[in-house]
Amino acid sequence: MIPYKYVDFPNLKETVNEILKIIPELHKDTSVYKSYDKEFFSNIKLLKDGVEKFNSWNEIFDIAIVSTKANSSLPIHKDFGPIEKTIYSLNLPLYNCDKSYNILYKLKENANFKKKSDENNDYEYFKYKEKDVEEVARFYLTQAVLFNTQMPHTAINPTNEPRIMLTMRFNTPLSI
Ligand SMILES: [Fe+2]
Repeated sequence: MIPYKYVDFPNLKETVNEILKIIPELHKDTSVYKSYDKEFFSNIKLLKDGVEKFNSWNEIFDIAIVSTKANSSLPIHKDFGPIEKTIYSLNLPLYNCDKSYNILYKLKENANFKKKSDENNDYEYFKYKEKDVEEVARFYLTQAVLFNTQMPHTAINPTNEPRIMLTMRFNTPLSI
């Protein structure tokens, strides 16, 4: 399985500038995966046009802003839900993503996991302990990426600023 693949998102810088204008304050000091209604982004034509290079805007079933607070990391997890079939999400760096990184892992034999749900979003995921996983890749989100949500992963933010990214998941697979 390919852990991730950098892709060329058209007009990324301009698109991100538009998104930054509407990012809710909560993402500046909260670690959260928060889904938004597609309508929330509907005025950003650059985003919709860019997404169309990869899949139809209408095929998005989840569009979320993920923030990781300064000097913190997300739990090691694998995403759960319809994404199990489509595997890859399309992620865009929004703020302070080039000095923080993602790590993707493979499971060791007899690894344990816990099915958890996120009380904010009614969103379920599998959570793993560090002793049960082995690192296979790490990368900085310096550009758009197709991200394998079915490998256990985390985001590590060792900086003094929040890390904010946009993730989009689709009903149909992205080609990779
Ligand atoms: Fe995830």
